[in-house]
Amino acid sequence: MTQQAGVFITVEGIEGVGKTTNMAFIQQYLQALGVDLTVTREPGGTPLAEEIRGLLLNNRDEALNNDAELLLVFAARAQHLGQLIKPTLAQGGWVLSDRFTDATYAYQGGGRELSMEMIANLEQMVQGDLRPNLTLLLDVPVEVGLSRAGQRGELDRFEREKQAFFEKVRHTYLQRAQAEPERFCVVDASQPLAAVQGDIEAALRPFLVKQGLMDG
Ligand code: TMP
Repeated sequence: MTQQAGVFITVEGIEGVGKTTNMAFIQQYLQALGVDLTVTREPGGTPLAEEIRGLLLNNRDEALNNDAELLLVFAARAQHLGQLIKPTLAQGGWVLSDRFTDATYAYQGGGRELSMEMIANLEQMVQGDLRPNLTLLLDVPVEVGLSRAGQRGELDRFEREKQAFFEKVRHTYLQRAQAEPERFCVVDASQPLAAVQGDIEAALRPFLVKQGLMDG
């Protein structure tokens, strides 16, 4: 782990897991404890990285090449890290990001079937040793997530993918969670919202105790 004064938390999951609602819940929860919190998202998080987000998500006639997609994701991430995440952590701030590099392993590695080794190389190049301290994986069966996401109207370039794509994305997320249980907490997001948020609180509590923000 890089020398960092702050704390880096990420939230992950396929489309329709309730990331937006639960990000707001986590934000409120941490701010109520007095955490100096910066909330951000990927792809995006700075004006330039948000422009790259547009290139990744907007539908257009020309197909986006898979390698170009991967490099755009990491270009946005390099900008986000340099402009926002690293300076915030260096000053002792906390960063809560809606998605980070686990999404690249899941979508570009799992979904698009690009080489995990190539992703790991880009991760090392762009991030060095910087990794999230805690990752909350909101998990729902793909059909549940897709039916929720489908109710939102206009679908972006990823949301137009088929169920089989999201099965691979979900599978990769779950595999990563299993491989790094000390960093990941998997929350069953198909439960009623109150139960999901109860589980999120239960996942955060031991982490916050370790950070000295709560009594054990
Ligand atoms: P979201 O804001 O709804 O989460 O949309 C972001 C989309 O970008 C989502 O479909 C997942 C995708 N994505 C990747 O494919 N790779 C990545 O590394 C990241 C951060 C997001």
